[in-house]
Amino acid sequence: MKFFVDTAVVAEIAELAVLGMVDGVTTNPSLILKSGRDIIEVTREICALVKGPVSAEVVATTADEMIAEGRRLAGIAENIAVKVPLTWDGLKACKVLSGEGRMVNVTLCFSANQALLAAKAGATFISPFIGRLDDINLDGLQLIADIRRIYDNYGFQTQILAASIRSANHMSECAKIGADVATAPPAVIKAMAAHVLTDKGLAQFMADWVKTGQKII
Ligand code: E4P
Repeated sequence: MKFFVDTAVVAEIAELAVLGMVDGVTTNPSLILKSGRDIIEVTREICALVKGPVSAEVVATTADEMIAEGRRLAGIAENIAVKVPLTWDGLKACKVLSGEGRMVNVTLCFSANQALLAAKAGATFISPFIGRLDDINLDGLQLIADIRRIYDNYGFQTQILAASIRSANHMSECAKIGADVATAPPAVIKAMAAHVLTDKGLAQFMADWVKTGQKII
């Protein structure tokens, strides 16, 4: 499973990139707001830092305007994936932009039917939002499994990009189901390294090491 980082903060991406943990980046208007940066400038910086796909989201609501914004965003760098919402106009924009050979990430997906439409419209990525479904007592991981099954049934090439990830558990569950990509905030990726037994075991080793009175260096 590829790891995308869900942030527009360059320092956060850089910290994970040196460890080889960043296969791509996803941003959205809320993350741009949080970064406090200009969308074009920060997206250009991120694209220079990361070789993989960097999602930049349109903010128009009509297909023609989304297409124009998508072309503008795609002009920032070759690794831009234009992010469009899963509306009827968004699907129209997806069809046109993907037909021009651009990567398109169809976002705000909350149902298997929506994912099926996005694949038919030529999406490179479909972004089902796990956490927001869980928030309203629906099963986000079940949606990932349903889309996996549907795409495999018909050989769709659209990659399942699990989004709205809230926990380390979401990451391993997505990997078990077979999501192609998971995008997560840096804190969630770091939390994947944590285990209470690792901490306990390390504390014991450190305590015993002090008792030996030895040094390695
Ligand atoms: C990524 O593409 C999405 O925009 C993001 O994962 C949404 O996450 P949230 O539901 O935590 O805002």
